[in-house]
Amino acid sequence: MNGLSQAPGTFWKQLGQAVFVCTGGTLTFFGISLYKGNEKFYREMAMPALQWLGAERAHNLAVLAAKYKMVPIPTLADSPSLKTRVWGLEFSNPVGLAAGFDKNGEAVDGLLKVGFGFVEIGSITPAPQPGNPKPRVFRLKKDKAVINRYGFNSDGHESVYQRLHPRETPSSGVLGVNLGKNKTSTDPGKDYVAGVKKFGHVADYLVINVSSPNTPGLRSLQGRQQLEDLLEKVVAVRDQLGGSHKPPLLVKIAPDLTDQDKQDIAAVVSLKKCHVDGLIVTNTTVSRPQSLMSDCKDEIGGLSGEPLKNLSTATVRDMYRLTQGKIPIIGVGGISSGVDAYEKIRAGASLLQLYTALVYQGPPVVSRIKRELQELLQSEGYSNISQAVGADHRDK
Ligand code: FNR
Repeated sequence: MNGLSQAPGTFWKQLGQAVFVCTGGTLTFFGISLYKGNEKFYREMAMPALQWLGAERAHNLAVLAAKYKMVPIPTLADSPSLKTRVWGLEFSNPVGLAAGFDKNGEAVDGLLKVGFGFVEIGSITPAPQPGNPKPRVFRLKKDKAVINRYGFNSDGHESVYQRLHPRETPSSGVLGVNLGKNKTSTDPGKDYVAGVKKFGHVADYLVINVSSPNTPGLRSLQGRQQLEDLLEKVVAVRDQLGGSHKPPLLVKIAPDLTDQDKQDIAAVVSLKKCHVDGLIVTNTTVSRPQSLMSDCKDEIGGLSGEPLKNLSTATVRDMYRLTQGKIPIIGVGGISSGVDAYEKIRAGASLLQLYTALVYQGPPVVSRIKRELQELLQSEGYSNISQAVGADHRDK
C-alpha cells in the first residue's frame, strides 16, 4: 500500500502534525530572534512588519513594549572605552535616545535596558495638548527617513511629573527632560520657566527646545535678542532651584540656521547671564534634499534620518568651532551606524542621540552602534571616547 491509499484519517493527522511543527518552529524562531535582539531579524522582518500598523500606531506600540520591558536586552556590558563623564554625570556609553520617542516619560527604564546610555523624554508642554491632526508622521522608507509634524502632543507637565516623581535616585542611566511650549501660549519664557521649576529636581539635565519646526513661532526663539531674553530667564530660575541639585541646562537647535544665526547662538550661550551647559545639535530639518525618493517627501514637517546626517554633522562642527569646544555638544541627526556616530564625535560631539534608526533597525541598533564605535576607537588608537571628541579640529 502506498501512503496515499492509507486511511484518510492518518493523512490528515500527519498533515496536522507537520503544520503544528512548522508553525511552532516559526514562532519559536521569531520569539528567540525578538528576545535575543538579532540585528538582521529586526531590520529585515520585525521592524518592516510593525510598520503595517501605520507609523503612529507602530510608534505607540513600541513605547508600550518598552514600558512593559518586552525588549531585547544586550548581553554584553558596555566597554570601559565608551564610558564618559559630562557635566559631572556618568554615562556608561555615549549613545542616547533622542526626544520625541518617549514624549510622556512612560518607558524610561525599559528604554535604558535596551542599552542606551541616557534617555531624553519630551518635548513636554505645560498644559496637555493634542498636537496636530493625524496623519502626522510619515515613513520615507526608500530614504531611511521620517517626516513628522506631531506638533508637541503632550500629556502636560503635571501628568509626566507624577509618572517620574518616584524616580528620586536615577540608578540605571541618565534622564534628560526636554521642554516645549504650548501652541497657544503667548509667553514662551513663562512656559520654559515653568518646566525648569517643575522638572529641575527629577531631571539629570534639562533641554530648552527652540527648534521643533511644528510649533508656529518656536524657531524664531533662536534669534539673538529672543534667545538672550529667554536664556537669561531660564538660567536665573535654574540657578535659584532649592536643594543641592542644579541640573545642567541645554539648548536644542535646528539644522536650518544661517552662519549668522550660528554665530549669534554661540555668542549668546557664552554670555555669563545666559550661559548654558550644553547644546543639542540638531533637531529635524524643514529642508528637502533633492535626493529624496519617497512618495511622502513633500509632507509638511521635520525630516529626520539619513538625509539629515551630513547637515547635522556640519552644524556640530560649526558650533564646536564657534564655542571653541568649551560647551559640550550632543550630536544627533541620521546616526545609524558606528561610522556615523564616530563622525559626529570627531566633529565635536561629546555625546550622541538617535531616533529614526530605531524605527528602521529596532532596538539592536543600539548594541550595534556601540560595538562598531568601540572597534573604531580601538583601531584609531583611542582608549576612551572622550579623547576623540573634536579630533577633526585638531588634525587640521
Ligand atoms: C522628533 N524629534 C523631537 N525633538 C524634540 O526636541 N522634541 C520632540 O518632541 C521631538 N519629536 C520628534 C518626533 C519624531 C517622530 C521624530 C522622528 C523626531 C527630533 C529628534 O529628537 C531628533 O533631533 C531628530 O529626529 C534627528 O535625529 P534622528 O531621528 O535622525 O536620529
